[in-house]
Amino acid sequence: MLIKANKLTDSYTLANNNEIPVIGFGTWQSANGEEAYNAVKWALEAGYRHLDTAAVYGNETSVGQAIKDSGIDREDLFITTKLWNYQRNSYDDTLHAFSDSLTRLGLSYVDLYLIHWPEPIEYRDHWQKLNADSWQAMETIYQDGRAHAIGVSNFRQKHLDELFKTAKVAPMVNQIFLNPGDQEKSIVGYNKAHQILTEAYSPLGTGNLLKNAAIVKIAAKHDRSAAQILIRWNLEHGYLPLPKSTHKEFIQSNADVFDFQLDDEDHLALDQLDGQEKQHTDPHEHNFHKTVAFLD
Ligand code: A2P
Repeated sequence: MLIKANKLTDSYTLANNNEIPVIGFGTWQSANGEEAYNAVKWALEAGYRHLDTAAVYGNETSVGQAIKDSGIDREDLFITTKLWNYQRNSYDDTLHAFSDSLTRLGLSYVDLYLIHWPEPIEYRDHWQKLNADSWQAMETIYQDGRAHAIGVSNFRQKHLDELFKTAKVAPMVNQIFLNPGDQEKSIVGYNKAHQILTEAYSPLGTGNLLKNAAIVKIAAKHDRSAAQILIRWNLEHGYLPLPKSTHKEFIQSNADVFDFQLDDEDHLALDQLDGQEKQHTDPHEHNFHKTVAFLD
């Protein structure tokens, strides 16, 4: 399927008309220190200009250092980070959490700030108010210009319906676990209907899909890697993939997806994988805890 993007720096347009590069470099599970630093350094050298981190990844410091050392103009970069389940008790807590992220990143603004998780276990009996309060703070941050766009992550329809009851600014992005094995058609359709861009974390199924026989077959047919097929699948659906790697060659090859396209037969085979992996986590069932290791 043809897509409009021809290179890494081509972009989607968010509901507020801001541009967002079509592929983001994922850093989930890249350890703070040398691992995250080198990964981001190699990603920037390979031409990625969109980086995705989060407070809970514990690597904002290294991501920020690699950005600084790259010497790339800030306005040429698109940086996302996320509000974790701690420091979320109130409007003020959210403002503090955001400031802490900016400090760790060494930045004066981010391009996108997301609520990371809709139903933290500690707040499960009042997640509606929790999200409304956090969102109000995100709106302040947005209006101050310290986040150029705001959104959510791992939200389902019920979370977004609830948020819309009090939101003055609509979320521009919903970042979810998304790949051919977990196609999440319901929330993807909802996002689209509400002008919310769908970002795909774990577009490679955290690596698990790379050995899937159907994907390996399509990769062989195009003389491409399985990862490239999966990234291309995301782009051809209009999603924004955030592939993660800590290896220089993978980082480079995962960006090399603009000179081939999947055909109808490939799409049919990939679309049939829906439900086969089922790795995603239901926000209502997952019991993350408020205090995480990197805060110790
Ligand atoms: P590594 O980080 O060791 O390079 P996802 O983006 O779906 O979460 O998948 C990330 C996983 O996929 C990581 O384990 C990463 O390994 C692996 N990975 C990323 N790109 C490739 C690639 N091109 N070939 C093989 N494995 C890859």
